[in-house]
Amino acid sequence: MGEAVPVDQEPAEQARETVRQLRSLATPAGAAALTRAAELLAARTDAVTALTRLRGEVGVELAGPAWGIARQRDKARTAFGADADRLLFTGDTLEQAGRPVLADRRARRLLSGGAGSAADLGCAAGTDTMALARAGSRVVAVDRDPVARELTRLNTAATGLAGVEVRDADVVDLVAAADGGRVAGCDAAVLDPARRSGGRRLLDPDRWSPPWSTVSTLLDRVPWCVVKVAPGLDHERVPAGVEAEWVSVGGSIVEALLWGRAPSAVWRRATVVARDGAVTELTADSDPGTAPAAPVRRWLHEPDPAVIRSGLVALVAEQLGATLVDPTIAYLTSDSPADSPWVTSYPVTDVLPFNLKKLKALLRGRGVGRVTVKKRGSAIEPEALARQLRGPGEGTAVVVVTRVAGAPTAIVCTVP
Ligand SMILES: C[S@@+](CC[C@H](N)C(=O)[O-])C[C@H]1O[C@@H](n2cnc3c(N)ncnc32)[C@H](O)[C@@H]1O
Repeated sequence: MGEAVPVDQEPAEQARETVRQLRSLATPAGAAALTRAAELLAARTDAVTALTRLRGEVGVELAGPAWGIARQRDKARTAFGADADRLLFTGDTLEQAGRPVLADRRARRLLSGGAGSAADLGCAAGTDTMALARAGSRVVAVDRDPVARELTRLNTAATGLAGVEVRDADVVDLVAAADGGRVAGCDAAVLDPARRSGGRRLLDPDRWSPPWSTVSTLLDRVPWCVVKVAPGLDHERVPAGVEAEWVSVGGSIVEALLWGRAPSAVWRRATVVARDGAVTELTADSDPGTAPAAPVRRWLHEPDPAVIRSGLVALVAEQLGATLVDPTIAYLTSDSPADSPWVTSYPVTDVLPFNLKKLKALLRGRGVGRVTVKKRGSAIEPEALARQLRGPGEGTAVVVVTRVAGAPTAIVCTVP
């Protein structure tokens, strides 16, 4: 949304205006305006023309908000599928929204102990609230932002989910008052702190909203809880008895979770979701330490980022009979390819000290034209180097720039 809200409005007034607009879109006239805006967007109508037409067809009041929501729905479709056309998001709440498939998975595990009620502590547009309700729980959805509360109300209604109470409260206070293993009157809780401010990532967990102190209090007081944290969270922060899980989809980390002491089952868990939706999990009851390092062999294995972030590379090395190329770098090497969901394997053709001229000459000699550059432990810019290495040949190669036994090295591989 946002098109219809003048920028000089005070935040509280702006929020009131956004809530009013959202309510107007939940009427039959609003639904018609949304349908029309979606049609114009699907026809790739430019914003100025679309808004002019919408103003004429559905009125000045509904045109801007309908166009804004249609654009957010378009962005939401990849993660939310057909549901995107029933849901309302602002730009901020869509950016903060997790993937519904993963929210469902989290909700099922959180409720597996039999909790009948769950608090969504910071509900934004209600992704977790809807997942908890779909999993059969009564839900108390809390947010101090009136726009978030309205979105959660409207979204749960639009998806026909019952048993959701939306509450205006400060999560810091609710967690401070948690008692007897319960928070906000519920048996279980999801906490997903805001980790951005002014469009920038907040790297320091003490600056999240609510801050780390609330995260650790919740983990101490409410056994059936799960907290979404930044994927880069320092392992030192994870309290004893709390399982930390990193989830990747299609090779990128999408979320990191700290599980309360009741659902916690292991020390760390790496969850890899393949492009076809298949889920594979790797777990360890304790820190497996660091894998041994040895010279590069015939195959190079790139561990999935969920394996790396969860500290389970040594476990995978053991499974594959592989070693690290350097004690500080998460590339593995072995004599044979790996049929494993935890790594992508590349056949190695050459290993040479990193030198642009020599690398270029070697690739030309091999007839390589197109190069994919990967790096770890090196300051090079992969796209820039790939452009520099591009040649006239027909062949392709993967060039891995990294450290081997402490020395800057290029490992040339064929495309698997
Ligand atoms: C990252 S978003 C939650 C996203 C949501 N789980 C989802 O997947 O769509 C965090 C939310 O917490 C709310 N919030 C932050 N600090 C809060 C506090 N102290 N009390 C209540 N709500 C808070 C923000 O307004 C925001 O809507």
